[in-house]
Amino acid sequence: MTGPGAQDGFDRVLVVDFGAQYARLIARRVREAHVYSEIVPRQITAAEVAARRPVGLILSGGPASVYAADAYTLDPAILDLGIPVLGICYGHQLLARMLGGEVARTDAAEFGKAELAVAAPGLLLEGLPERQGVWMSHRDAVVRAPQGFTVTATTPASPVAVMEDRGAGRFGVQFHPEVGHTPRGEEILKAFLFAACGARPTWTRTSIIEQAVAAVRRQVGGERVLCGLSGGVDSAVAAALVHRAVGDRLTCVFIDHGLLRAGEAEQVEATFRSHFRVDLLHVRAADRFLAALAGVTDPEAKRKAIGETFIRVFEEVAAARSDARFLVQGTLYPDVIESGTPDAARIKSHHNVGGLPADMRLELVEPLRELFKDEVRAVGEELGLPEEMVWRQPFPGPGLAVRIIGEVTPERLDILRAADAIILEEVRRAGLYRQLWQAFGVLPAVRSVGVQGDERTYAYPLIVRAVTSEDAMTADWARLPYDVLERISSRVINEVPGINRVAYDISSKPPSTIEWE
Ligand code: XMP
Repeated sequence: MTGPGAQDGFDRVLVVDFGAQYARLIARRVREAHVYSEIVPRQITAAEVAARRPVGLILSGGPASVYAADAYTLDPAILDLGIPVLGICYGHQLLARMLGGEVARTDAAEFGKAELAVAAPGLLLEGLPERQGVWMSHRDAVVRAPQGFTVTATTPASPVAVMEDRGAGRFGVQFHPEVGHTPRGEEILKAFLFAACGARPTWTRTSIIEQAVAAVRRQVGGERVLCGLSGGVDSAVAAALVHRAVGDRLTCVFIDHGLLRAGEAEQVEATFRSHFRVDLLHVRAADRFLAALAGVTDPEAKRKAIGETFIRVFEEVAAARSDARFLVQGTLYPDVIESGTPDAARIKSHHNVGGLPADMRLELVEPLRELFKDEVRAVGEELGLPEEMVWRQPFPGPGLAVRIIGEVTPERLDILRAADAIILEEVRRAGLYRQLWQAFGVLPAVRSVGVQGDERTYAYPLIVRAVTSEDAMTADWARLPYDVLERISSRVINEVPGINRVAYDISSKPPSTIEWE
């Protein structure tokens, strides 16, 4: 859960998490309707809910059965707070069970598309067709609604597919309105948000910025602020936002470790100097990082060497602005959820190269703490950051060092940088850049024989890696068109000395990972 902050001025809907992926998608859909939403753990108490003063509550779906011995429940006093509540799938069954209805295991599990038929007038389906397709995923079903509820829609396998006790502000749907496969789902969620909860749709990119700027001003007062820029979208948006809040009291520190892609360092510098006129300390530290990496081949040892060097360089630079009291961190809402919910699956913890020494005694400013990635991008666009920066694919903190297998040398960095630029150019030209989670090259530590002109060559292969993913926890190798692969291959081999062969990585995650190291 987040503390008070930028979201203070907004109507708030709490999404109770009975299954992390479900809760997250619901929370995003609510925000897309311009209502601020927050994910809270299922263990939340009525007092904690009341303290957050939400205008509505949504109980998410989840993988469990309400009959399991260790079935997730909810503090029953929450339902007596007088806050409108919508149960979805598992949340619908839980609501039914807690209020005295009946949930049973039905003969036919319902997975996939089902036809919903309106049975009685109600708030959620008002104005929608008598019959519509909805997305189902359940084995148990509510077979009898609790007293006071009207069954407003059914499907062949769900006698109580939608139920409402409008007077008490209690609603339940067996299907998933938050997924794209329920075409009218957005309207159903909006009916709950606006007609049942009376929420105000004020969570827009301009108001997000206004509130975040005000919160940063409140937090830092007249003090100086430091912000590390990495070249990635999160630190860039955080910096732009804080700059709007405190102007020239912000100093950005850009440590160029020499492991970035072609043109990246130049773009960061140009954007922040010319467009935002930020006080920017651009530290060209490639030599120090390369010295620390000399002879290092083990992937974890590389990360460690880079992390330690980063901290040392940052400390030296920060000394030049020793009057700073605050440090900007680009923490996003998913990171906050990950650390806040007991059940959330732990994402592989990477050594974060932006990680800073604990003893620096700088207070953190986290202006993106409440935002999902797509909101960060929208805010970045609104603040005037260039499109290439706002839509940049994720890039690991240790940079190209974890894409060069074996020792990282200036020569091998040059080879990979040139090849990587061609991959991205061709992916962009094919209009595929935004569809891919990441596309990049990997330089392995083997060489093979080739023939170019009349010459025998003995050079490195380049491995092309392109994946699609929602959140990097799982990923699928991208089915790049052959003609795109063909252009990448011939251009890389012709234009990049040191490479005489191109291979395509067709492994998914799991069992592989996205990066090679
Ligand atoms: P893997 O290779 O674990 O990568 O499938 C998942 C995502 O994380 C990125 N990644 C990193 N990011 N520091 C970072 O900041 C790292 O050390 C690091 N290693 C991997 C990777 O690019 C992918 O998006």
